[in-house]
Amino acid sequence: MREKFIEFRNVSFRYGEEQPWVLENVSFEIYKDEWVAIIGHNGSGKSTIAKLMNGLLYPQQGEIIINGIQVTAETVWDVRKQVGMVFQNPDNQFVGTTVQDDVAFGMENRGVPREEMVRRIEEVLKAVRMEDYLLTEPHRLSGGQKQRIAIASVLAIKPQVLILDEATAMLDPRGRKEIMQTVSEIQERNEISLITITHDLQEVVQAERVIVMNKGHVWDEATPREVFAKKDELREIGLDVPFVAILADELKRNNMRLSNEPLNHEELLEELWTLHSKM
Ligand SMILES: Nc1ncnc2c1ncn2[C@@H]1O[C@H](COP(=O)(O)OP(=O)(O)OP(=O)(O)O)[C@@H](O)[C@H]1O
Ligand SMILES: [Mg+2]
Repeated sequence: MREKFIEFRNVSFRYGEEQPWVLENVSFEIYKDEWVAIIGHNGSGKSTIAKLMNGLLYPQQGEIIINGIQVTAETVWDVRKQVGMVFQNPDNQFVGTTVQDDVAFGMENRGVPREEMVRRIEEVLKAVRMEDYLLTEPHRLSGGQKQRIAIASVLAIKPQVLILDEATAMLDPRGRKEIMQTVSEIQERNEISLITITHDLQEVVQAERVIVMNKGHVWDEATPREVFAKKDELREIGLDVPFVAILADELKRNNMRLSNEPLNHEELLEELWTLHSKM
């Protein structure tokens, strides 16, 4: 059986007593070794979920369990040792005066020995292709470069779960692809959980499972294929579907008999070749 790593049990949250509920009765589970994408319209509660996962916020109702521990003010430091999180805006995430110091900071807090720190700094900076910026001051970096460093800093602490909240939004398409490739390899190799919150559909289709949020509720929880099969319903709640899925629909409407629902270019090509060979 797969091991649960994160559990939301009937979680409700609002930013103040006079404020509307931002999450209402949200329940889901995330397993130890899986990649889950969380999608939803702006304001649907995704970043709030991320902040609840490492105790930046606490729910007014319900429970959040991380690796068997309920997240409370007492356990939050234990929880944060296991949860690595990168947000959308890298500017607030820097503490060091150089890139090297910045990556070292989280490790120092966790008591990683010096030689190990040096080794990891090199390793993670290479992984995000920033090895030439060791001594650069973070404020001199571009937005996308800052984001790479923020991701490297989190990788350096070897978390059990990695949460990327639109953390690749500032990267150019190639950079995004490279970093996601690196991150997903790390996820697979170390059997950790990866949670990506993103509007990038190319990224969503790569996840094993998708949680779709709508107005503070879990609207759907399924594989990307199952989720994106609900094209019209998704559009109604303000979400898009991958270009390939739209194209596949058009082809079907024009009486091309596709046997599957392709979600990426490779699958679409496969379908087209199959059709072609039947002609
Ligand atoms: N600090 C805050 N104080 C009050 N309300 C907030 C605060 N942060 C977020 N909200 C409100 O909570 C709701 C959910 O916000 P959240 O940031 O979780 O959405 P999101 O799904 O991450 O959106 P996006 O796709 O734009 O990042 C929104 O209605 C937002 O206005
Ligand atoms: Mg957000």
